[in-house]
Amino acid sequence: MNAFIQAMPKAELHVHLEGTLEPDLSFALAAKNGIDLPYETPEALLAAYDFHDLPSFLAIYYRAMHVLQDESDFFDLTWAYLKKARSQNVLYAELFFDPQAHTSRGVAFKTVIDGIRRAQEQAQSELGMETQLILCFLRDMSAESAMATLKEALPYKHLLIGVGLDSDEKNNPPLKFAAVFALARTEGLKLTMHCDVNQLNTLVHIGQVLHDIKVDRIDHGINSLEDPALCKIIAERGLGLTVCPVSNRFCVQDLTASHLRKMLQLGMRATVNSDDPAYFRAYMNENLQALLDDGGLTIDEIVQLVRNSFLVSWISEERREYYLNLLDAHVQAAA
Ligand code: ADE
Ligand code: ZN
Repeated sequence: MNAFIQAMPKAELHVHLEGTLEPDLSFALAAKNGIDLPYETPEALLAAYDFHDLPSFLAIYYRAMHVLQDESDFFDLTWAYLKKARSQNVLYAELFFDPQAHTSRGVAFKTVIDGIRRAQEQAQSELGMETQLILCFLRDMSAESAMATLKEALPYKHLLIGVGLDSDEKNNPPLKFAAVFALARTEGLKLTMHCDVNQLNTLVHIGQVLHDIKVDRIDHGINSLEDPALCKIIAERGLGLTVCPVSNRFCVQDLTASHLRKMLQLGMRATVNSDDPAYFRAYMNENLQALLDDGGLTIDEIVQLVRNSFLVSWISEERREYYLNLLDAHVQAAA
């Protein structure tokens, strides 16, 4: 690993906690919860990860979640990710979670959020790592289910910074969730939505998130580059785009390094993120290293992408300045 990348202070803005479930932890939780896994070893489970697009990934991702049963399981999941991220000098993270993937199989919302919250608190006190939580709705479930989930979450609103939209985008446009996101906005939550790469009607969907939902950030958003008018709005509003290079290499067979370069050239605030690192076998630093080694990005471009993460993160101006100063000091020390 490039020492400069390893030691650089970083932020992660697009990581699904359920996507950080490593095979070893799957096996430990399955044993604890008396669940039979259809694989003999963690290595055999890993070898069965044969996704090539978003639906084939999501099928494996949802199937694996059944081992997550009680509060301590959600704690263990979150704590393992936070320790790993902190070891890569990720100092700040905004964490996605998918409550409907758990409530739909009988696990209570409170169980999920209590476990995650406890790990966040421990990361703050033991690792000095700051995190915030983003509740994602599953877009292949109904708008009614999303609304019910939002209402169930409102008593925990103080534990959330925002809401997002993930899962299978095909035939599930942003507008389907307009009322849910309008209520979330009224409740003071930030808004983001996945606009996954190369989806059917992707430019219509990106237009909806900008004009109708009026998101505060876009997850992925690579295809905006196909429409100069969309690029212009994103750049003018200073909207962040949470790009996930190694995830893209799996789901669309392209690291999207040239897209990241183009976004930077257009003044769009692109960032680099890991998405589902246990599945794509790449946490933050492996994503940055891949952009350097395989994508041909320069160190200056990498620094700009990392700087953008702090610029578009949902933190106070005081904390933003603190992190940007740390980043500047790191860059100057290496000059
Ligand atoms: N859920 C977890 N990862 C996802 C992704 N990359 N796109 C949509 N939904 C997801
Ligand atoms: Zn994602």
